[in-house]
Amino acid sequence: MMPEIKQYIRLVKEIVLSSERPLRYYVDTYGCQQNESDSEILRGLAEEMGYLPADDTVDADLIVVNTCAVREHAEQRIFGNVGAMSHIKKKNPDLVILMAGCMMSEPHVRDRVKKSFPYVSGTLDTNSTDRMPEILYAILSDRKRRFYFDEDRNILEATEGLPRVRTNGIKAWLPIMKGCNNFCSYCIVPYVRGREQSRAASDVLREAREIIDAGHKEITLLGQNVNSYQGIEGGFPALLREVNKIPGDFRIRFMTSHPKDAGEELFRAISECEKVSAALHLPFQSGSDRILREMNRGYTADQYKRKIELARRYTPDLAITSDVIVGFPGETEEDYQMTEDLVREIGFVSLFTFIFSPREGTKAARIHDDTPESVIKDRFLRLVAVQDAISKESHASRIGMLETVLYDGFSRDKDALSSRTDDGRLVIVKQDPSCIGSFGKVKITGSTTWSLIGEPMDE
Ligand code: SAM
Ligand code: SF4
Ligand code: F3S
Repeated sequence: MMPEIKQYIRLVKEIVLSSERPLRYYVDTYGCQQNESDSEILRGLAEEMGYLPADDTVDADLIVVNTCAVREHAEQRIFGNVGAMSHIKKKNPDLVILMAGCMMSEPHVRDRVKKSFPYVSGTLDTNSTDRMPEILYAILSDRKRRFYFDEDRNILEATEGLPRVRTNGIKAWLPIMKGCNNFCSYCIVPYVRGREQSRAASDVLREAREIIDAGHKEITLLGQNVNSYQGIEGGFPALLREVNKIPGDFRIRFMTSHPKDAGEELFRAISECEKVSAALHLPFQSGSDRILREMNRGYTADQYKRKIELARRYTPDLAITSDVIVGFPGETEEDYQMTEDLVREIGFVSLFTFIFSPREGTKAARIHDDTPESVIKDRFLRLVAVQDAISKESHASRIGMLETVLYDGFSRDKDALSSRTDDGRLVIVKQDPSCIGSFGKVKITGSTTWSLIGEPMDE
């Protein structure tokens, strides 16, 4: 940890511990696993400064809203929820509300926070996560608002070794890189997360060992495009093999892979490493070559299909999941049909379907499109229906199979446990809660569109 951070932690801690009652923090996280991972650092720093965790925002003296900018809907929801926090601030005028994360890297969003959310005390962009103690000390000292923004900073270096509070004791996120260089024409991530940087393999492996020693049973290696990881000779497949060598009973997952960079070495590593799950999340975004070109994705639909074929040659049962966007500007019914055809042809286990959302500053946001919203909504619903039928069939085909699952909590109805197969499928099992956090064998006895039902096997 950098000496100046230590200094600010100490100064804030003095203020926090001199309070008449214990002060509490709450980190409200939106967006992807990268943000979940950053929130672990925000929690770690808050606890180092003497704050205790709060169960809810209403009980907190420090609220950090870790934001996501990927779609307009996400931004609106966050502004709505921050708007509702004005009531908490009225009841507790000493409350400090900070906004952090991807939205805070957008200048127009910071301006909006400055003007329209006067009870938000400060902002930290994605390059200034580690400066939370500094901003808090400044705010607590004179109660003036602060808006931190660091354009050119090595945030990987700045956050290396910072304390983390992981709230899930079974599954752990492990960031291996930051940023993205791909500039897909619709995507805000390269603008708000900056250029790609890989973490040194030695740091990744040290943290992986710590995670396993702490009792976690699953590690997910994180990056916007893990296939361009540069922290070790041999790239990401070599890193997978090194993590796989760590002794212990645990699973390895990773996300996200980019079709232009995922190749034979990756598929070979998945099939040869016994701890690496037989699962691959490989977003395709569109089945139309014209749209893929406009999206700047760097592959054709046919190249995507051939990659999947190759991956399945190494791991025939590989569970493939994906992301797709409908309603990209200029998408015709013919383009949409090509997407639907690709979905039918591949047979994804599940698919995240998004409606295109124009993001200020991206290339695609400048493309004029007069396709009515109703047409796009209709394509979205058709694609969801096609995939639901495929998912249902895919899950039904597992009935009768024996699976090793990791019990990770209670089912939604709380009357059973939820668990995951090696390839990532959700299995609901009537099982003793003492099994949460351990592996077990189950027989698949039923299925729905999104999950499986299993019975424990005597071992
Ligand atoms: N890096 C990953 C990749 O390349 O697939 C995922 C990045 S993004 C956080 C997750 C998904 O959000 C993308 O795969 C894409 O389908 C979707 N997405 C990104 N920008 C979008 C936009 N402007 N409108 C709708 N969906 C978007
Ligand atoms: Fe966005 Fe494309 Fe980078 Fe993924 S690879 S984060 S979709 S720019
Ligand atoms: Fe959102 Fe930022 Fe992730 S924009 S999807 S939280 S990288």
